[in-house]
Amino acid sequence: MLHKLTNEQLMIQSMVRDFSRKVVAATAAERDQTKEFPWDNLKKMGELGLMGMMIPPEYEGQGADTISYVLALSEIAYSCASTAVVMSVQNSIVCNSIYQFGTEVQREKFLKPLASGKIIGAFALTEPDAGSDPVRQSTAAVKAGDDYIINGEKRFITSGKNAETIIVTAKTDESKMHKGISAFIVQKGTPGLIVGNIEDKMGLRASDTTDLIFENCRVPKENLLGKEGDGFKIAMTGLDSGRIGIAAQSIGVAQAALDAAVKYAKKRKQFGQPISKFQGLRWIIADMATELEAARQLMFLAASMKDRGEKYTTQASMAKLFASEMVNRLTAKALQIHGGYGFIKDYPVERFYRDARVFTIYEGTSEIQRIVISNNILKDNRSPR
Ligand code: CAA
Repeated sequence: MLHKLTNEQLMIQSMVRDFSRKVVAATAAERDQTKEFPWDNLKKMGELGLMGMMIPPEYEGQGADTISYVLALSEIAYSCASTAVVMSVQNSIVCNSIYQFGTEVQREKFLKPLASGKIIGAFALTEPDAGSDPVRQSTAAVKAGDDYIINGEKRFITSGKNAETIIVTAKTDESKMHKGISAFIVQKGTPGLIVGNIEDKMGLRASDTTDLIFENCRVPKENLLGKEGDGFKIAMTGLDSGRIGIAAQSIGVAQAALDAAVKYAKKRKQFGQPISKFQGLRWIIADMATELEAARQLMFLAASMKDRGEKYTTQASMAKLFASEMVNRLTAKALQIHGGYGFIKDYPVERFYRDARVFTIYEGTSEIQRIVISNNILKDNRSPR
């Protein structure tokens, strides 16, 4: 950290670390097996103010800064990446989008229960044939009197089954490309909103990832978020903040993997001494710690730029790119240090390795982050700061 953390930031970190390591960690391995959604954890996290951290208190959030948020999210990810992804989507792309683009009525009605953690939210952008290129989505919303009627299919939606409030993007004007995409708030139970296939995933197994099908799903025009045509901007703005969150998740899992590797290496004896005494292994640990620290600093940089109200798109993508690639290298090394024990479920590193795999994919693949970074550098014809 270039600057010292404030007392308040340190207090939040310490409170969440304590909660995460006592409560969240206790059932993480079991949840990975049973795929049970972490309702109990999320309820407690709501009570602790972790589900709408950056939302002002008048909308039942905590009014915390982004640095505090990433510290908290990393601590949850340290124990359970499945719980962390629900927290991340809720805080960034759901709560922040409604706060930033919603009307006063929408903030009262939809944001308050989300920010207080009473309900879970989801953001439905991706489709079976539109992932990296969401402009070419085919879900459409047609105006019908005072309503919009939405038809289409969304895929890989985090919390799709358990969310009460969903922000969904849909085309309102085919001819306008990204300026023809709008965002709508849809509540669970709305006729025509159907939860489809629930994915059976390699990692993050306790977080549900589903298809959402919209079949003549009628929503009142008051549920339009922003103006008609704002949907792509809302998604991109939300993803900027979401990508700092994926960096935070990566850092939490990487720290857990490094700590596990160090603990094991000090205990495990081969050739008459702890394997931590061997230089080959010590150098691996030094590289792991260095890469992790570099990722942490990039995350802090993006978060502090956001807190200062500066444009941080490039730095968010850099933090997401570097941290998500880093955690994949680190969890693989941590598993290798564990030898055969890394490959079995008695030790947590195999879960860390599986959970980390999606971090270079969701909220924009590493390839998309490189597009965002290079576009911004080449556009400005200068280095990003
Ligand atoms: N903030 C605000 N506006 C932005 C923006 C940003 N970060 N980035 C772009 N825009 C705006 C531009 O200003 C432009 O608007 P104007 O025409 O009014 O100037 C418009 O959006 C189009 O910009 P581009 O021409 O740069 O857009 P593009 O079509 O080339 O696509 C892209 C850019 C970066 C490839 C983008 O499509 C992208 O990020 N794709 C990846 C999508 C993604 O991350 N999907 C993940 C799914 S969500 C998920 O995983 C959540 C989950 O559940 C965990």
